Amino acid sequence: MARQGGGVREGDEQLNALTIHRPDDWHVHLRDGASLNAVAAFTAAQFGRAIVMPNLKAAITSTALAAAYRERILAALPAGSRFEPLMTLYLTNNMPPEEIGRAKACGFVHGVKLYPAGATTHSDAGVTDIRHVYPTLARMEELGMPLLVHGETPGAQIDVFDRESHFIDAVLAPLLERFPTLKVVFEHITTARAVDFVGNARAGVAATITPQHLLHNRNAIFSGGIRPHYYCLPILKREEDRIALLNAATSGNPRYFLGTDSAPHERTTKENACGCAGMFTAHAAIELYAEAFEQAGRLDRLQGFASHFGADFYGLPRHDDVITLIKESWVSPLSYEFGNGTLVPYRSGESIAWRIASAARA
Ligand code: NCD
Ligand code: ZN
Repeated sequence: MARQGGGVREGDEQLNALTIHRPDDWHVHLRDGASLNAVAAFTAAQFGRAIVMPNLKAAITSTALAAAYRERILAALPAGSRFEPLMTLYLTNNMPPEEIGRAKACGFVHGVKLYPAGATTHSDAGVTDIRHVYPTLARMEELGMPLLVHGETPGAQIDVFDRESHFIDAVLAPLLERFPTLKVVFEHITTARAVDFVGNARAGVAATITPQHLLHNRNAIFSGGIRPHYYCLPILKREEDRIALLNAATSGNPRYFLGTDSAPHERTTKENACGCAGMFTAHAAIELYAEAFEQAGRLDRLQGFASHFGADFYGLPRHDDVITLIKESWVSPLSYEFGNGTLVPYRSGESIAWRIASAARA
């Protein structure tokens, strides 16, 4: 049976089709050049819009760079695509507050991303001390420009599994007090601690959740050997964290919404003695979320999480058109072309329980 608008009864085990408003991806890495050309169509096939991360090798640190990157993304889309890239700026120690005025005025920059320097892929140009960016954050607060946060404290002295929790205490909690009306998205949260923190935070604070953190705990990285394609940052956590994330995502609380963090890397850079962090999920993103929500018996809440709450947070209209998901399994390709190399997707060669039946545009 198919039901419109996510109106599924709880515990409805007969459900084999689900129609929801077109979703958006509030956190994705589209890369650049040949890599961009290889992955853009996957995101554009499912999502109406996506918040595009600015951590290119030469980071997107200005509105002018974001404008040029946006044009390259539009050029990489299949003919006739109506996908809208929502651009972000990469916050550096010396971003002038005036840049925020330019970003706000251009209309296509929707957030500024904070990477603590050294926290993740291409974060070297990131912020070394949050105090350096107070004037810029003040301007963002004034103009209603959201701050998107990679919430981990980098550094060899902090256990990799504790970095998110450390960041909450050391940076995020004080920041929310210092800038009481700054809109903040705590990106790709991975712990029960972060779920609680966001749930109890002041107004204007939200979080994105990835499919992999809903579907896996850290055992996935070590099952039968070391599995580089399950390595992403923030790293997968404990089962109790996964359950807390699943409960949050399926709770209907609008503070939690979809952000895949799909982060493609060429195969040999992941299958490597020092492999890159990042998992590619864009080829099956909404299907993977459907699996997770089904597991929780809450497919009726997928539409809010995937299609409504993010748009509402960013002050953008919800989409009018719909996509239909069907419970019919398919096997993910082993790899995709990726510039001069290949890309190993999440679930490579394994089955995925849902597929998109139609994605009609209004
Ligand atoms: C991302 C990437 O590869 O750009 N990697 C990841 O593991 N998520 C960076 C990031 O979002 O941390
Ligand atoms: Zn990311």
